[in-house]
Amino acid sequence: MEVVIVPDAKAGGELIAEAMAALVRRKPDALLGVATGSTPLPVYEALAAKVRAGEVDASRARVCQLDEYVGLPAGHPESYRAVVLREVVEPLGLSEASFMGPDGSAEDIVAACEAYDRALAAAGGVDLQLLGIGTDGHIGFNEPCSSLASRTRIKTLTEQTRIDNARFFDDDMDQVPHHVITQGIGTILDARHLVLLATGEGKAEAVAQTVEGPLSALVPASALQLHRHATVVVDEAAASKLKLADYFRHTYANKPAWQGL
Ligand code: F6R
Repeated sequence: MEVVIVPDAKAGGELIAEAMAALVRRKPDALLGVATGSTPLPVYEALAAKVRAGEVDASRARVCQLDEYVGLPAGHPESYRAVVLREVVEPLGLSEASFMGPDGSAEDIVAACEAYDRALAAAGGVDLQLLGIGTDGHIGFNEPCSSLASRTRIKTLTEQTRIDNARFFDDDMDQVPHHVITQGIGTILDARHLVLLATGEGKAEAVAQTVEGPLSALVPASALQLHRHATVVVDEAAASKLKLADYFRHTYANKPAWQGL
């Protein structure tokens, strides 16, 4: 696992956007797996700036969602489909056709989950999956004790995650969905490159357990330890509980191993 400590969220966004741009230059129709929430926004802003500046032509890139709320009315502005369209697809100038996600309003949710896993495989698999991390160590919405081999399925959000996400719903807990469709941990591990971004002190404990703790279903993000190419990008605050922080600074700062990502 590469652990790259950056000064702040903006630098993390810039670093990952450059990794995505390099991938798209190499493979113009790359499938980019995107996360929602607050953390990845600097990545999308930096990537869109590169597209506007003509540094990368992303017109053939494809985008797929990591997860989706179940039960929000179609077109709800906080559905992850709407968020990804707003924050990623439109700013990159992509068409809606280049974008795929699980159907959180399907009548048959089980079938919709299976269909999404099949669609990801049929699309050739995810080239780079961007991940955030929950304060409880979740990735996607694989909450603690999720099977490390899980595939896309419906999950119940923990109370803590619903509290964390209430800010997107006018701080009204009654509006926060209880269920989501999420790529499973096994599905996430199928991506060719995993890049987890964590910023802020609130993520420090989860980051330390992910990187330095044992592999455990209690900390779903620790499954990154099983992946052949996982990069964890953290700002100083999120790195503050890493025992090996100095080692990571020494090993990965300004070294080519991660510059190409
Ligand atoms: C959302 C997702 C979640 C978030 C996590 C952190 O698509 O996959 O795992 O990445 O809940 O959210 P923020 O970035 O808002 O702290």
